[in-house]
Amino acid sequence: MTASIRIDAFLSGADLDAALRADVARGLTSVPKELPPKWFYDERGSQLFDEITRLDEYYPTRREKEILVAHASDVAATGADTLVELGSGTSEKTRLLLSAMSSAGHLRGFIPFDVDEVTLRGAAEAIAKEYPDIHVHGIAGDFEHHLGRIPVEGRRVIAFLGGTIGNLPPASRAAFLSQIADGMRRGDAFLLGTDLVKDIDRLEAAYDDSVGVTAEFNRNVLRVVNRRLGADFDPERFTHVARFDKDNEWIEMLLRSEVDQTVHVPALELTVEFAQGEEMRTEISAKFRRSRVESELADAGLRLVQWWTDTHEDFALSLSVRADRD
Ligand code: SAH
Ligand code: TRP
Repeated sequence: MTASIRIDAFLSGADLDAALRADVARGLTSVPKELPPKWFYDERGSQLFDEITRLDEYYPTRREKEILVAHASDVAATGADTLVELGSGTSEKTRLLLSAMSSAGHLRGFIPFDVDEVTLRGAAEAIAKEYPDIHVHGIAGDFEHHLGRIPVEGRRVIAFLGGTIGNLPPASRAAFLSQIADGMRRGDAFLLGTDLVKDIDRLEAAYDDSVGVTAEFNRNVLRVVNRRLGADFDPERFTHVARFDKDNEWIEMLLRSEVDQTVHVPALELTVEFAQGEEMRTEISAKFRRSRVESELADAGLRLVQWWTDTHEDFALSLSVRADRD
């Protein structure tokens, strides 16, 4: 038997193209140039990210998994019957939460939410097979625009794993957290994965692996722009750069133009010059300390109730509830 599945898609190909056009037009005409990270995740981008999670250098996935193994039952003890997962990807670690909720006897529904519809469907179908008694309701959307579309049903844990919150710049992060808090009801909880500040060499290696998978992932954004907007980026003429910004405590991912070059984006009637050595930012990945997580949650109206780290204190999971509703 397979569980019932429903997928709601709030991003048509046309919506995605319009959003990509706006982002690329703004980003490539900014000084310095930049491209926002959600465009990494087409089908190939999601596959590359999946490979990243298995790299020796990329510790966050293993550390977060370790915390989930130790504390999934504490999350289930909130009594939640519905698990919402934002930026769910393949939902691999999520099975630990689903199984703990199932053992606690409460699990009724799973709501994965991701911008990459192909990966979302694959994960939803796999989980529906593994947990035949639940309802799986996938949402293909942008968590910066479509959080209001998450069904309000049951008692929910809203999980946001993988340290993906760190990919939002501070102002967007504050807006995102406020929206999460506004959508939560009494009894709901927010489970947040955050990567922690640590030794710079380890941080930089996690985003610049020796095999070059991360470099391919970073350059994939150029392939997405080529495919969707007819641009003529030559990905081989851009080098992957990852470095830790100590003042902001975030990793920056950049693409550095190896030569003077001209790129055309026909869909935007745009021609852009890159100078040799010019760097274009494609992503940040903020690293946190407990105090910052706690204060950012508090600013959004959330109260931290649990803080769990792995044995190396590399990564943290926090559980919070609405400050005014418990
Ligand atoms: N949660 C998984 C995947 C993390 S990678 C893990 O912990 O391993 C980040 C995920 O967020 C990808 O699956 C990507 O497609 C998704 N994502 C990125 N930006 C998004 C956005 N704006 N809206 C919804 N999903 C997004
Ligand atoms: N959420 C992941 C993180 O910040 C995304 C990520 C991992 C990533 N490796 C990357 C994004 C390399 C761009 C390039 O850890």
